[in-house]
Amino acid sequence: MSYTEKTFNIPTDISLSNEQITVHLGLYAGYVKNTNALLDKIRTWPAEGDIIALSELQRRLGFEFDGMRLHEYYFGQLENGATSLKESKLLDLIVKQYGSFESYCADIKRLASMRGIGWVITYYDTVSDMLINAWVSDHELGHLAGLPIIFTLDMWEHAFMVDYRPATKLEYVNQYLSLVNWDIVANRL
Ligand SMILES: [Fe+2]
Repeated sequence: MSYTEKTFNIPTDISLSNEQITVHLGLYAGYVKNTNALLDKIRTWPAEGDIIALSELQRRLGFEFDGMRLHEYYFGQLENGATSLKESKLLDLIVKQYGSFESYCADIKRLASMRGIGWVITYYDTVSDMLINAWVSDHELGHLAGLPIIFTLDMWEHAFMVDYRPATKLEYVNQYLSLVNWDIVANRL
């Protein structure tokens, strides 16, 4: 069993440049390749093999796997072009918790302004019936256990450095939020 690199039907006339998207998809491909390579090595590790070396592979798995999966959410949200968030359970929760879609986006931007590399993620907690916006460092540090992922925003510099600079990264966030197909996001709930 191995993972296959997904293709995404992202319109070519969006306000993130084709070069930015292409560079980023190339990095995504690396996460798929490395996830497969790691899983192969771990599965075939000899019983008498070096446990220290195996431990490092195991630690690396969360980085590569989460890097692969979070990018699939991220690029998947851009498929088939932008749509507004319509009547849905997601919109109901957003209005209940944040007051409006604009206030939800403001909360995403507040988290996105944090220094360092990582992701802004909206989770849905089935226990409390609440959305939770959280920051994940790298790809794997800070995930909320067992909570389905509803929305991801890549805040690694590679996600915007072709088109933007760190000082203007919130312009990238504004652009990205305007490109999202919110029907796809809403259907994850
Ligand atoms: Fe990325």
